[in-house]
Amino acid sequence: MRLKSNAVITGVGGFVPGNILNNSDLEKLVDTNSDWIVSRTGIKERRILTDPLLATSDMAVAAVRNLLDTTGVAASEIDCLIIATSTPDHLLLSTASIVCDKLGLSGAWATDVNAACSGFLYAYTLGASLVESNRYKKVIVVGADQNSAIINYKDRNTCILFGDGAGAVLLEPTTEEVGLVDSVFKTDGHGREYLLVPGGGSKIPATVDSVTANQHFIRQEGRVVFKAAIKGMTETCTEVLKRNDMTIDDVNWLIPHQANYRIIHAVGENLGLPEDRVKVNIERYGNTTAATIPLCLWDFKDDFKHNDNVIFTAFGAGFSWGATLLKWGTLRKA
Ligand code: ACO
Repeated sequence: MRLKSNAVITGVGGFVPGNILNNSDLEKLVDTNSDWIVSRTGIKERRILTDPLLATSDMAVAAVRNLLDTTGVAASEIDCLIIATSTPDHLLLSTASIVCDKLGLSGAWATDVNAACSGFLYAYTLGASLVESNRYKKVIVVGADQNSAIINYKDRNTCILFGDGAGAVLLEPTTEEVGLVDSVFKTDGHGREYLLVPGGGSKIPATVDSVTANQHFIRQEGRVVFKAAIKGMTETCTEVLKRNDMTIDDVNWLIPHQANYRIIHAVGENLGLPEDRVKVNIERYGNTTAATIPLCLWDFKDDFKHNDNVIFTAFGAGFSWGATLLKWGTLRKA
């Protein structure tokens, strides 16, 4: 008989491309200005993967390599790899299987999760469930997106927002009272028309006409998504706290998806959380879709203490959204 374990994050890795696209660069591409971008979104610069020979899998490989290096865990010890991405290298075959091959994760099975900006949140809970079952001892969950591959750099509504990057966490079982506590997730397909890449899938296969009509790029009704994101993240954070008999005073850190600083600020304010307990790095990376939360963990991991109560929350295409409550553990050191 297997007893249930808790699933705790024991390692964090990350990667962002070296090439920086700042707001002045964007002023040369579309009718915009840096003051508008900073005041409406909080973004100053984003990282862009410019080498045409590289793709999402290469950023995921770099993030996982960083994770393995910093934890001292060998590639052969990994049982499972889950990659959250909505910019897979290819339509047919998982980016996770490419990453497995490139890193020599010989003992792991691998799959992708596509829930856009909520992808890491969903994948993290799935990976933690595998560990909690006690069948898996070392599961890696990655959030990785090369948004520059699906951005129209003539569309000022979207090109100012997105960047490229990857973040990864290692999940392991523990008998201590730390790790994932609970998740509240929601999906509402009615929202699909407000944020999507219309072409390139089975509904509108890629043709000369679909490409000419720019259907392979992200389209977004920003105002609708903006309001739904604030409401959705606030409600799910509130629900996950309530059903665990906790209040916002019990929360040490909120790590929200980084889509727009005004969204992050509004969610923190709605929850009554002081700004210094809300992690923000959007000014440097923009919205890296599934990578925002693990990149925040990567940037701020030294701030988190054993037993800290942490909430991850995200909202994205689908619509998909939710909040996950966890107790921070201790990271491995190589
Ligand atoms: N530069 C200058 N002006 C601009 C720009 C720009 N880049 N973009 C829009 N404007 C103008 C508009 O034309 C409009 O002008 P008007 O008043 O004359 O009509 C004005 O600025 C205000 O436009 P809004 O669209 O109302 O601007 P808003 O304050 O809503 O900001 C934004 C737009 C940043 C897109 C915001 O709506 C947003 O962040 N939305 C949510 C994004 C998000 O959370 N996405 C989910 C995750 S993404 C994923 O899942 C893949």
